[in-house]
Amino acid sequence: MIEFSETELTAAVVDSFRDTPNPRAKFLLQELVKSLHDYVLKTELTFEEWETAIDFLTRTGQKCTPIRQEFILLSDVLGVSMLVDAVNHRDRGGATQTTVLGPFYVGEHKVMLHGTDISSALPGERLFVQSRVTDVNGKPLAGVAVDVWHADDSGHYDSQRANYLDEGASSRARFVTDADGRFFFRTILPFSYPVPTDGPVGELIGATRRPAMRPAHIHFLAVAPGYEPLVTHVFMAGDPNIECDVVFGVKHELIAKIEKRTDPTMPDGKPAGSSPWHLMTYEFKIKPGGGAAPKPLAAKANEPA
Ligand code: BEZ
Ligand code: FE
Repeated sequence: MIEFSETELTAAVVDSFRDTPNPRAKFLLQELVKSLHDYVLKTELTFEEWETAIDFLTRTGQKCTPIRQEFILLSDVLGVSMLVDAVNHRDRGGATQTTVLGPFYVGEHKVMLHGTDISSALPGERLFVQSRVTDVNGKPLAGVAVDVWHADDSGHYDSQRANYLDEGASSRARFVTDADGRFFFRTILPFSYPVPTDGPVGELIGATRRPAMRPAHIHFLAVAPGYEPLVTHVFMAGDPNIECDVVFGVKHELIAKIEKRTDPTMPDGKPAGSSPWHLMTYEFKIKPGGGAAPKPLAAKANEPA
């Protein structure tokens, strides 16, 4: 049979993949066809709507560069990224919850001494972060590399600045846990910020009257041999955008209370100076396993095809 009715077409396209040698690829393609056809049938998609979708996806691709991934942003705001995260991290077994990596992980974080102020003296309210990495039973893990990065007090990442390559990193560093699994650093309080809205995904957010904001957070990536890499953020309790994260990345366990302090010394015993400061205390638990640490976009772009 070469001519198919509306009700026969789906089965015919699914069957066209029957000889796909890779069973997983065959399954993924057949399920994709079923879901797409189901969508067209359910919505009775018009030609105009189909053209709008094609145009939107074309422009999404055109917006991508080696350091800008508009398709991942689309996946993020449609909740697909967090759904992939959820199905792949169903059983945490006591390990810290995960969330999206985000586009501002640029890699090449410089190892800094515990206690370093990573904010490069940018304006903002001072924050001391004290943390520890343990296994799921609470045993401290030494020598774990922890990358941290966060937005400044205007809601921008260093890598969003035009002169980033000349000026270098700020609010971005790597710490290596000590014998007690601890690491700590000084920085400024991060601010909530909108995801990039100057592309088709921004148009989608605007046209649907959705807030474009992410609540204030600090990103953490902990990597240790023999353990599953942990990709997560810690969110600042009380942020007004915590209930409406545009990428659906908030989990209750990842919200930390930020204490306002006036003590004359910070937890490492060094003088705090005259103005009040903030303290964030958060511990991470990582689980045995493997897998590669995520790569930053630019590194992926430089890989041979
Ligand atoms: C971020 O947290 O840096 C981020 C995550 C997803 C989309 C945009 C930004
Ligand atoms: Fe972020």
